[in-house]
Amino acid sequence: MSTPATEPLIRVRGVSKHFGSFTAVDNIDLDIESGELFVLLGGSGCGKTTLLRMLAGFESASSGSITIDGADMAGVEPYARPVNMMFQSYALFPHMTVENNVAYGLKRDGVARAERRQRVDEMLAMVELDSFAKRKPHQLSGGQRQRVALARALVKRPKVLLLDEPLGALDKRLREQTQFELMQLQDKLGTTFVVVTHDQEEAMTLATRIAVMDEGRFVQVGSPAEIYETPCSRFVASFIGSANMIEGSVIEVNGETVVVEGEGGNNRFEVNHSEPVSVGDSVCLAIRPEKIDIALVTDQAATGSQNRLSGTIKELAYLGGTSILRVETEGGRVFEVTSPNRLRSVSGKHVFDWDDAVTMSFPASNAILLTS
Ligand SMILES: Nc1ncnc2c1ncn2[C@@H]1O[C@H](COP(=O)(O)OP(=O)(O)O)[C@@H](O)[C@H]1O
Ligand SMILES: [Mg+2]
Repeated sequence: MSTPATEPLIRVRGVSKHFGSFTAVDNIDLDIESGELFVLLGGSGCGKTTLLRMLAGFESASSGSITIDGADMAGVEPYARPVNMMFQSYALFPHMTVENNVAYGLKRDGVARAERRQRVDEMLAMVELDSFAKRKPHQLSGGQRQRVALARALVKRPKVLLLDEPLGALDKRLREQTQFELMQLQDKLGTTFVVVTHDQEEAMTLATRIAVMDEGRFVQVGSPAEIYETPCSRFVASFIGSANMIEGSVIEVNGETVVVEGEGGNNRFEVNHSEPVSVGDSVCLAIRPEKIDIALVTDQAATGSQNRLSGTIKELAYLGGTSILRVETEGGRVFEVTSPNRLRSVSGKHVFDWDDAVTMSFPASNAILLTS
């Protein structure tokens, strides 16, 4: 028996959702602790919204159970759950002022006028919209409308706030700024947030933990750093961030490291053990572009000695802060490498240029060995 203190706020067990013969959510188990900012991340159609709607009570599970704050949610109507949902299309009432939009749910719940006033004012101050209380939604920017929707969802003081692509309608800059506001707000209130997004950078920024979804299933659940540095499969390694993926087979198993022969032969890589493998196993070696050292061949001292490769720069994208280089090795394999532009250059000439001969290297500990 677990004690109430350690009981997760949300407990999902064996939950599936079928639409006819189609399985949108496939046997999900999930525990979310109070105070978490939990992110469901996955491509379009993988079942994120369906899972969120089952937590909210807008959709019933085909099988399995959902417990929130100790109570089984089977048959419990959305309004009777300790959750609130903020929809992708904020769904503000266009003819109502900001304060009336925020007050609407409280009014419907029969909260007395004085308390309503106080809670609405408090919430508008929290999202920094106190001076916009009398405006209508069309007199606000996209970011401000998003904050009204947040205030309206939070004013009812739910234990859990469910947010479906909450920043999807904002442009890139505003989205990045709003991500930080959302995190600060969540931190101040201590409300548990479950956020759906298809944007992996957004997930990395916001989340205490991320569940990566594919075809209705969780493929990995972990902190942003765990998912990025220790992906459990080829799918996760390539879905989160970029990675150079080298298919090959194990030719040597040593104490600390494994030697992998890349497909096509004549290219061997040494990688740290992460899972048990044997000689002959088919594996994949994943290496992130920023975890490869690169230097001009004329600058020999600059690269390490493990996993050394020579090649030629075939493509170069200057992004300002970093450059992305595509380097072709003598064996014809192409590596993507990111290189920070640490030195300011006014001449337009950077360390690397097209057709430069370079040496790349990475220590065995920088590569990820994947078996699935
Ligand atoms: N009411 C429904 N009837 C039939 N199929 C649905 C329904 N809702 C969602 N689906 C299907 O379930 C899958 C998952 O949908 P959804 O949860 O909205 O995905 P996501 O939010 O990850 O993009 C999609 O293939 C979608 O077409
Ligand atoms: Mg969706």
